[in-house]
Amino acid sequence: MKVRTISPQEFRERRKRLAEIYRRAYRGLEAYAYTSSWEVRSYLRWLYRGDPEMFLVAYEGGEPVGFISGHRYWHDRQLGEVGNIHELVVDPDFQGMGIGKALLSEALRRFSGDHGKVMLWVGEGNEKARKLYLKLGFREVGRAGVWIKMVKELEGTWTEGSS
Ligand SMILES: CC(C)(COP(=O)(O)OP(=O)(O)OC[C@H]1O[C@@H](n2cnc3c(N)ncnc32)[C@H](O)[C@@H]1OP(=O)(O)O)[C@@H](O)C(=O)NCCC(=O)NCCS
Repeated sequence: MKVRTISPQEFRERRKRLAEIYRRAYRGLEAYAYTSSWEVRSYLRWLYRGDPEMFLVAYEGGEPVGFISGHRYWHDRQLGEVGNIHELVVDPDFQGMGIGKALLSEALRRFSGDHGKVMLWVGEGNEKARKLYLKLGFREVGRAGVWIKMVKELEGTWTEGSS
């Protein structure tokens, strides 16, 4: 398995497959996902364009099987300047094999150096993802409806309430 960035051309060529991975991954978790084709398509485009260097694709046998997308320069009211992980999906046929963890670890490695912290939102009923985030050092810092906000400090200097 290989994790790497993709060029704009490759993104265009792989867009359908990436959308399919997204839709398959969120089966049963639709409450936390876009479901219509055009929404998924424009969401993926927004993710990629926001920070192509932080759109990482996991390849298995030359085919995409998962991806993570983050934006390095994000402003959050509570946290200030922060990296933001917007999406992480792995095709169900390839889940449970360490691909999600590998994508997240690589994204975190790339985030360090920009800001001291990375945030994300996860659905409260999304047990698999919440476990993964806790395991990699994220902690809950807020809630909004069904969403839980989590933060990981990359340098250990940040304390809640500071920005
Ligand atoms: C969350 C997701 C990306 C994990 O991908 P994955 O490749 O299966 O994850 P990994 O194999 O690397 O497992 C990493 C950790 O996730 C957790 N996890 C994975 N599968 C799990 C399961 N079936 N039950 C409980 N925890 C699970 C575990 O903590 C696991 O660590 P461990 O193997 O050391 O116990 C994947 O389940 C997915 O695509 N989910 C749907 C989309 C989604 O919810 N994305 C997150 C949005 S915030």
